[in-house]
Amino acid sequence: MTPNLCIELHAVDEMVGLAMRFRHIEGWLGDHEGYLLFRLARDAEGAGAIVEIGSWMGRSTAWLAAGSIATGRERVRAVDTFTGSQEHQNHDLIRREGTTYHRFTDNLEGVGLFEHVEPIIAESRNAARDWNGGAIRLLFIDGDHQYEGVKTDFDLWAKHVPTGGFVVFDDVAEKHPGVWKFIGELRGDSAHWQHVISVGKTATFQRIA
Ligand SMILES: C[S@@+](CC[C@H](N)C(=O)[O-])C[C@H]1O[C@@H](n2cnc3c(N)ncnc32)[C@H](O)[C@@H]1O
Repeated sequence: MTPNLCIELHAVDEMVGLAMRFRHIEGWLGDHEGYLLFRLARDAEGAGAIVEIGSWMGRSTAWLAAGSIATGRERVRAVDTFTGSQEHQNHDLIRREGTTYHRFTDNLEGVGLFEHVEPIIAESRNAARDWNGGAIRLLFIDGDHQYEGVKTDFDLWAKHVPTGGFVVFDDVAEKHPGVWKFIGELRGDSAHWQHVISVGKTATFQRIA
């Protein structure tokens, strides 16, 4: 068997193992999308923080934290109001408790990753205003999917991403017209941002200048 084939099969095995570990955490992130976050958190070059905008019940947070902890890297800053977006207001848990925060902590404690996460319970724009964590090497944007929301998240947070750092967007799909429109615009800014990969409904950009 060729070394490359061994590496590829090992990656599949790793992804399936993590997917089994996180499968009970409710969310919309596919396993291949989670594995992308895991690999960037574990293997991508560069120094700085990992910031997630939009954590919900911790599904994407778990993939990020598992990647980062695997190589002894930084904790994941998880920014969310934990009250859900507009489209989540009829969700059972939001109707019952008004927050996903307790489920988020339970889920991450359940998979042994809560110690590697720092929740920031806030509106994204307020958390950005108060940010004093320095450079962000990996930014995951999965909060407000309205055009103004995703643009504001990008404008306020991506300025902390240095050259070589990554921004990953979720829900880049025509059924999320706000995200779709913003990504179209970002693709036009090829002097600063290079689209490096799309996995499932995610799109990853690297700052090049
Ligand atoms: C699509 S869910 C995130 C899903 C999560 N990344 C996962 O993989 O399971 C969007 C989340 O963004 C949060 N959110 C929406 N608008 C926000 C804002 N302006 N500030 C902070 N959090 C926000 C919601 O509370 C919700 O938990």
